[in-house]
Amino acid sequence: MTTEIAKSVTTCRVCGAADWQEVISFGSVPLANAYLDKPGPEEAYPLELISCRSCRLLSLTAVVDPQALYRDYAYVTSESETMTHHMRDVVRLCRERIDAGGLVVELGSNTGNQLQLFQQAGHPVLGVDPAQNLAAIAERRGVPTVADYFNEKVATAIAGEHGRASLILGRHVFAHIDDLADVLRGVKALLTDDGLFAIEVPYACDLLERVAFDTIYHEHLSYFLISTLDRLFTRHGLRAIDVRRLAVHGGSVLVTAARMGSRWETDERVGELIAYEKSERLDTDARYEQFAARVHALRRELTELVRKEAANGKRVAGYGASAKGTTLLNICELTSTEVRFCTDTTPQKQGRFVPGTQIPIVAPGDVSEQPDLYLLLAWNYAEEILQREAAFLDAGGAFIIPVPEPAVYARQKVRQ
Ligand code: TMP
Ligand code: ZN
Repeated sequence: MTTEIAKSVTTCRVCGAADWQEVISFGSVPLANAYLDKPGPEEAYPLELISCRSCRLLSLTAVVDPQALYRDYAYVTSESETMTHHMRDVVRLCRERIDAGGLVVELGSNTGNQLQLFQQAGHPVLGVDPAQNLAAIAERRGVPTVADYFNEKVATAIAGEHGRASLILGRHVFAHIDDLADVLRGVKALLTDDGLFAIEVPYACDLLERVAFDTIYHEHLSYFLISTLDRLFTRHGLRAIDVRRLAVHGGSVLVTAARMGSRWETDERVGELIAYEKSERLDTDARYEQFAARVHALRRELTELVRKEAANGKRVAGYGASAKGTTLLNICELTSTEVRFCTDTTPQKQGRFVPGTQIPIVAPGDVSEQPDLYLLLAWNYAEEILQREAAFLDAGGAFIIPVPEPAVYARQKVRQ
């Protein structure tokens, strides 16, 4: 195990305090998206969750070097029905407030599918993403992309070249960033006076309520409450003006912020969610202790269930070699002994192996012998997948849905 490229968190990246509650430790785990060409020795890094007693940021203790994570990135934004539908919603929600024809800049723009929808709605767009392999794909689809990390320096250069942006969007990227202050300085350098900064992040309330322990992996440095984000924005001269709870990625929030002195009124949803967080006692150690206990119980039950099915001769496979899947399999210590293979629609993952498990990844069309049971590792797309796999279910197949508690989904059960 090498840990040289991991930095340990000391002070809180939101509020600067150094009073942490230790919430849960999963030991050393390989990087979730580090798919292997062949099984072999792997690096693993500590995966531990802590909570700041001052602002209740949930953070990992280890920050893995972003160069190791993102320069060549296997995660490709899903083009699934669920995600395409969601991206259209994001365009609609953001366009309620921004100028027609205003520049839209996206950080973590991946292969450019979200920006393409803004382009189709008449906006000039610019992507910013450090993954050179993905920026090249975005460019090929006509989405101009700067292959870099978004920070003050890059934002200032963009403002000089393209003018200021009406909207800066960051979908599922803000939680990946250690130096939030640098990004927020960049946002202020690039936004027009009444421009908006919209981020979509997994919502810490959903993580806790759904026991979505497999969304805890090295790329996700932060798990935010609205009260925590509100504090962060205020510290940097911005303010949250709206928030929406969304179903994607197991429960997320789209939070919109503007400059402190801008013309925007704050929607009442912001205060309502902050009050809800207080009512759920998310400012107390006890709530996080309860979460850790539920994670331990779920992990035990799920592992026992999969091992029992495999020991009874059932052919078990994983559905979707998601980053969550890597995390779940590693945390539950499930390997190719129990899970024969994982199917995944992403060409970049096919023919490779799930980190830490020796489990091969195959294209759905290449499954020669159907399993009896699929462990649904892409459970955030459950509805879409269960509909698509009607024939597998009709033929007697079943799915294990891992969270919030392990459940077996089969036709008989639906008819009950
Ligand atoms: P994500 O939750 O991070 O988007 O990852 C989901 C993974 O699951 C991604 O690798 C694509 C894969 N997937 C399938 O294999 N089949 C499907 O039907 C869907 C929706 C996703
Ligand atoms: Zn803090």
